[in-house]
Amino acid sequence: MIKFNWDTVKEEQNVGSRETMQVTREEATGNDRKLYIESYGCQMNFSDSEIVSSIMKKDGFDTTAQFESADVIFINTCSIREKAEQTIRKRLKQFNGIKKEKPELMVGILGCMAERLKNKLLDEEKIVDLVVGPDAYRDLPNLVRKVDDGQKAVNTFLSREETYADISPVRLNSNGVTAFISIMRGCDNMCSFCVVPFTRGRERSRDPYSIVNEARNLFERGYREVTLLGQNVDSYKWSEAENNKSRLDRSQEIDAYVDFAQLLEMVANIDSELRVRFSTSHPKDITDEVLNTMARYENICNYIHLPAQSGNTRVLDLMNRTYTREWYLDKIASIRRIVGADCGISSDWITGFCSETEDEHNDTLSLMESVKFDFSYMFAYSERPGTPASKKFKDDVPLEIKKRRLQEIIDLQSRHSMERNTEDINKVHKVLIEGYSKRSKEHLQGRTSTNKVVVFLAGDYHKGQYVHVKINECTSATLLGEVVKS
Ligand code: SAH
Ligand code: SF4
Ligand code: F3S
Repeated sequence: MIKFNWDTVKEEQNVGSRETMQVTREEATGNDRKLYIESYGCQMNFSDSEIVSSIMKKDGFDTTAQFESADVIFINTCSIREKAEQTIRKRLKQFNGIKKEKPELMVGILGCMAERLKNKLLDEEKIVDLVVGPDAYRDLPNLVRKVDDGQKAVNTFLSREETYADISPVRLNSNGVTAFISIMRGCDNMCSFCVVPFTRGRERSRDPYSIVNEARNLFERGYREVTLLGQNVDSYKWSEAENNKSRLDRSQEIDAYVDFAQLLEMVANIDSELRVRFSTSHPKDITDEVLNTMARYENICNYIHLPAQSGNTRVLDLMNRTYTREWYLDKIASIRRIVGADCGISSDWITGFCSETEDEHNDTLSLMESVKFDFSYMFAYSERPGTPASKKFKDDVPLEIKKRRLQEIIDLQSRHSMERNTEDINKVHKVLIEGYSKRSKEHLQGRTSTNKVVVFLAGDYHKGQYVHVKINECTSATLLGEVVKS
């Protein structure tokens, strides 16, 4: 057995926060002007920035990773919690300094905060020239021209149809092995705490044939994993009758109606060497058909992100999640029965939602205890203006209590992650190599089907390759092992 130097391979514990940021990478294709995009929030936003890059590329822009050298700076924003918006406002202050020295610099706000605040952003943040919501990116070339002509430009129109199905995204932060594909946009769920239905509009599903074509194209370019993305993938539905106009590839035999289980199968059938993941599932909508499809295909990963939000039925009702604690536990039982006891399961949680009592918080802890999630994203409730909760309920749990409860679930989750990872010791996992470990060039890292990060000595192995790794040690965030078979 190979002993590891822990300091070089231990990955950062990724608990508690989802707030990350991505920037465009340098891509020179001979275009005149340079675009820098900084993206915040969820994976959907990161995917949208790839669509934006593609639209802008056609309009004469190359992407850059250095904002100092950009002619245009876009910030693709998130509104999910107050802190996310504060981060963006701070960033705008920093860009203000650059604009003073370079007045011709164009600054645009894209995404959810643009949609939420619309014109108001122009008054509140003088540096902003352009405000564009998530469904208006096709209009960017016109809007940029308007700013070139000395005006301010705003388009926050929300569409019932836009899915950008025909735009092939410029892959921005890609390792060349794993990629994300948006399969739907918007959300119709109206969870009472959530701003997404207001910033992203109505739910709509993308043409399945354009999804399969994109996935096949990625596979042919060497990618080995795709994650199908949507706020609620289980309610994916597409029918030929409703979407005749938007169907892109008429050369194929097509099914008249496609639901999520069928879409998963279509993507899994592209090639058994292409792994398929998906996110996010909603406990009210995930079906046994989806679970059965997962069980039938080895290349559909054994991992489900199934946000519970709370373990208490009264709180779930106030949140308008439309399921109970018992329903949630029943879904977990179905997953374990159909997909397998070792299926990776993760969740999102909110602590201190309006009127949540100590006993109700304890129900969250006990739900966590009975499921033992592999991983969780955890948040203190942050009231968002305009949401049903902000209109109907009082945000009455004091901040210290929200934070204390958050810390309790973070601590419990760390314990469970460690327990779940310890169960993997001495097991052999098939791992798709994604690249070097974050901490050391002597180690490679990849993921198991259950979505756990595995680190092992690099040897002659390379990214994009599947290897079988025997797990020898673990932390609560990472498995460490050795390749036993490639
Ligand atoms: N569509 C996904 C998640 C979207 S937002 C789903 O339904 O699960 C990601 C997570 O942010 C949510 O699952 C929730 O846990 C958290 N979140 C959303 N609104 C929030 C708010 N107002 N305060 C704190 N956390 C919030
Ligand atoms: Fe928000 Fe609920 Fe829709 Fe998720 S399902 S995006 S939490 S409204
Ligand atoms: Fe944030 Fe919008 Fe995503 S609010 S989490 S970027 S859908």
